[in-house]
Amino acid sequence: MRQLLPDDTLWRNLRLATLDPDVHTPYGMLEGHALILRNGHIQAIVPEDALPTSHGNTHDLQGRLVTPGLIDCHTHLVFGGNRASEWEQRLNGVSYQQISAQGGGINATVMATRAATEDALFSLAQQRIDNLIREGVTLLEIKSGYGLNVATEEKILRVAARLADKYPIEISPTLLAAHAVPVEYRDDPESYITQVCEVIIPQLWEKGLFEAVDLFCESVGFNLEQSERVFSAAQAANIPVKGHVEQLSLLGGAQLVSRYRGLSADHIEYLDEAGVAAMSRSGTVGVLLPGAFYFLREKQTPPIDLLRRYQVPMAVATDFNPGTSPFISLHLAMNMACVQFGLTPEEAWAGVTRHAAQALGRQATHGQLKPGYVADIIVWDAEHPAEILYEPGRNPLYQRIYRGQRT
Ligand code: NIG
Ligand code: FE
Repeated sequence: MRQLLPDDTLWRNLRLATLDPDVHTPYGMLEGHALILRNGHIQAIVPEDALPTSHGNTHDLQGRLVTPGLIDCHTHLVFGGNRASEWEQRLNGVSYQQISAQGGGINATVMATRAATEDALFSLAQQRIDNLIREGVTLLEIKSGYGLNVATEEKILRVAARLADKYPIEISPTLLAAHAVPVEYRDDPESYITQVCEVIIPQLWEKGLFEAVDLFCESVGFNLEQSERVFSAAQAANIPVKGHVEQLSLLGGAQLVSRYRGLSADHIEYLDEAGVAAMSRSGTVGVLLPGAFYFLREKQTPPIDLLRRYQVPMAVATDFNPGTSPFISLHLAMNMACVQFGLTPEEAWAGVTRHAAQALGRQATHGQLKPGYVADIIVWDAEHPAEILYEPGRNPLYQRIYRGQRT
């Protein structure tokens, strides 16, 4: 019989989708087991018949489905303004690349974000984060990248830090200063890269405002050489890297990310086999962003079969941003990953749990129901995990548990 401490909580009569790859059933499903939580962590998963018949802190979940908390490992959640009129232009035949060249696109949001106060950005971000929390997200990545100068990148990252203080949800902040060439450097992108490497990265790292460096390697972003300058500045300070790569064309960005042992290569619609092989060698996660694919009406889908063949972990994220993915729903992103990219619902679930945790360097603590892992757990009024993404918008969430505490 299992020994329990008085402060332990015991959760029984549930169906556990552990997402643990060592549990060899679909979704790592375990029936007839109970969860014991202690000090914010999963203490044990034990067969029901090995439990004491009574314990003070017992929750009967009446057969409900229990999963790890969802993880959205790629968002641009903090920004000012919106780009509805640009979207309208696009539907009138102007391309994303043309709009960027005219100073629109990312730079339009940069203007709005520079003009906004920190409080205004905070209150906009709160509305967005509420939507993700409602869906069961317990860990969220937030990128800067709509500041493109040290003061505004800092303002965005401070908003992310305030969100982390205010909400029970955990936030992983990323510096995306190399998102676009700001208008004041339009004719001299190299000098902007120098500014990123010599001022923005070191100053904001010193302040502890982010935990990884990201960039946009693309014709409308930065080329391979410029991207490499950013990665080597990050590496010199021991900062993990990741990249928006191979989204609109194949430049070799995924191989570059892999050379720097990057956490993730994101978008990757145009990724080729050499890039997949490089990612597989470096343990880099492929982050699929079907919202942007859909909204940009792209045709080229990521090489899912190659990623499977090379056993590259695939994550799924919202990429929530005003220009290319204005969808603040991870359930919808999971659905789109299945419908547009052909993932199975089980792959989509791995994509928002253990693989998303890996994309954030937290695979040893998050994204699975497993002894020793953080007790960020969602209880669903559902029988099968596929129900959650099959019908986005219905949201059968029943209860959230952050670090072992019900909210
Ligand atoms: O992830 N690819 C670059 N960055 C964003 C788009 C940002 C924007 O257009 O505002 C993305 O899709
Ligand atoms: Fe993005």
